[in-house]
Amino acid sequence: MTTRRFFLERAGAATALAMTGQGCVTGGKPPFVTPLPIPALQEARKRNGHIDIIATKGKHAFFPNQQAATYGFSAAFLGPVLMLHSGDEVQFSVENKLDEVTTAHWHGVLAPAAVDGGPHLAIKPGEIWRPRFRVNQLEATAWYHAHPHGDSGRQVYMGLAGMVIIKDGTSQRLGLPESYGVDDLPIILQDRTFDSTGNLKYAVNGPAMMMGVRGDTLIVNGAIAPVARVPAGIVRLRILNAANARNFDLSFQDDRAFHVIASDGGYLPNPVAMTTLTIAPGERFEVLVDLSDGQAVELVTAEDRRALMGMGSGIGTAMTNEMSGSGAGSLMRFEVDGSLAAPVKSIPLSLLALQEPTYPDSIVRRQISLDMGPGMMRGMRMGGGGMGSGPPVGINGRVFDMNRIDFEPALGSSEIWEISPTMMAHPFHIHGVIFRILSMSGKPPAAHLAGGKDTVLLDGPAELLMRFLQPASREAPFMFHCHILEHEDRGMMGQYATR
Ligand code: C2O
Ligand code: CU
Ligand code: CU
Repeated sequence: MTTRRFFLERAGAATALAMTGQGCVTGGKPPFVTPLPIPALQEARKRNGHIDIIATKGKHAFFPNQQAATYGFSAAFLGPVLMLHSGDEVQFSVENKLDEVTTAHWHGVLAPAAVDGGPHLAIKPGEIWRPRFRVNQLEATAWYHAHPHGDSGRQVYMGLAGMVIIKDGTSQRLGLPESYGVDDLPIILQDRTFDSTGNLKYAVNGPAMMMGVRGDTLIVNGAIAPVARVPAGIVRLRILNAANARNFDLSFQDDRAFHVIASDGGYLPNPVAMTTLTIAPGERFEVLVDLSDGQAVELVTAEDRRALMGMGSGIGTAMTNEMSGSGAGSLMRFEVDGSLAAPVKSIPLSLLALQEPTYPDSIVRRQISLDMGPGMMRGMRMGGGGMGSGPPVGINGRVFDMNRIDFEPALGSSEIWEISPTMMAHPFHIHGVIFRILSMSGKPPAAHLAGGKDTVLLDGPAELLMRFLQPASREAPFMFHCHILEHEDRGMMGQYATR
């Protein structure tokens, strides 16, 4: 309730219409006045194979006339969209102009662990990190974000995140929308809480230790309730959940169908028609929506009810709403502008063939439990450690340790990881691989989850099939972790090296 009132005061909305949908109380409809910010594009091919970003402090007005202290990569908040072409060698430069250690992790970009930007690859204040590698993967939407040891949640919350687009010519071949910022839009979803001066409030209090830091205000590309002007045709949305903890249950407010064409690792074999789509922190989905009817439409999210699975739904809902945000709301609005060229008028019937996931009976299987509360207590008696206050979190009963390598798969080998989440739904992410989901809670994955993935929201046991093609050393290993950043920071993370 406070959320809506707060929103109205702060955004200075003139109208107060009743909102529809669960979780919305009398309050206001967002005004949709801010144009959707389109991040600057850094296309490596047009810059001599170079990508240059600077982690810096900034000032960003989430509300009119209120400058919030923020961080960004070469921007006040968030960073440029990096466009990389598969097959090209890219020279990155990441300068740290903050007065604290940071890193830049290429989430979903396949590269050796020595250049992937995990917590072992700290960039000290004033330093420049210069990784170089050849991009070699299918066309996909990935992203990058700060990943410093124990502090990823706060730094990402302050703004250290951006999108990566990997191209290999498939879009063009399939006739998909690819005019950046016109019919091919980056849609970076986050939620934030602000203090009375319009500054970001990052508070890891009791509920946030449990459920991650969630906000009462939804932002898209750093703007509250923005509006995008789009052509009257097929529009492609590259949706990234860059929130610290909340899942978005997306739909259009008129319930129109849309087509999911790609997940984290690239295209699905066929567009999947859906009317609601859940996207968890770290995940990406590419969606085609037909706006040729000329009707304006809002992208909305339902309340995040998965936050407290298994904790008693009544209490869970109350905590989610009143203490930590995650309510229903409108994210943004699309308005059709007939004067914009709409080159794509139809959705292809098929996209890119997908290999059947196959493996030998003798394949290595590993069990990984994402532990909270009781599971962790068990582990702690076996010699794990605590970290900070609040309920301990970890993996297989142990808190993350920078000096412990949890697994050493052979380079080139395949494995099945059996993941068991506890207490609530956790978005599980693995560096250095694109995996396939074999099962989720004993069932085959839904069609839009059946392609290449690097992050998956699990509220039950799952089997993930992966092949280790990127090298990782004991000095610079790959991470695997829950992408609720407060869980990751507090130790729900492990690391693997290849042998
Ligand atoms: Cu998106 Cu280990 O990260
Ligand atoms: Cu990652
Ligand atoms: Cu988690």
